[in-house]
Amino acid sequence: MTEAMSNLEAPPMSRRVLLNALLSGSVGVVVVGALYPVVKYFIPPSAGGTGEGVIAQDALGRPIRVSELLATHAATDRVLAQGLKGDPTYIVIDNGAVANYGLNAVCTHLGCVVPWNAGENLFKCPCHGSQYAANGKVIRGPAPRSLELVSVTVDGDNIRFSPWQGPDFREA
Ligand code: FES
Repeated sequence: MTEAMSNLEAPPMSRRVLLNALLSGSVGVVVVGALYPVVKYFIPPSAGGTGEGVIAQDALGRPIRVSELLATHAATDRVLAQGLKGDPTYIVIDNGAVANYGLNAVCTHLGCVVPWNAGENLFKCPCHGSQYAANGKVIRGPAPRSLELVSVTVDGDNIRFSPWQGPDFREA
């Protein structure tokens, strides 16, 4: 065997192990880098992890201003916002004011977002026909439960969502 041929031989074991480790690490970094945005897309944003809740935001992530909301919506409207954990959540306007509760817009049957039907004064799920009253109480199945309540407080010109505490007033 010539010296030139011996240079073409496979690297010694320790070099091979090192090269494999480097290659595996590089592939791992590329895979994690490629998957991160995909995984992040499917994980809803954090609610902040505090008991204080989150500020209601529009679809573009801008805080919803109470003054603008009431000036541009009917006195009994339901307005979709980003709520806790990024869930679509209705701000309830009753008698021209923001109510102290909101409604998670996710249908309790199989999770479709339930649109508000102002003409009929109820929520109608387009997926399997469940219906909810204006306060989110289920009035027609197959949905097994009413829309989930969310606590709402007006904080200056902002609206703050936080987890609902206490009993469901619709069951009284
Ligand atoms: S997901 Fe709403 S009725 Fe089935």
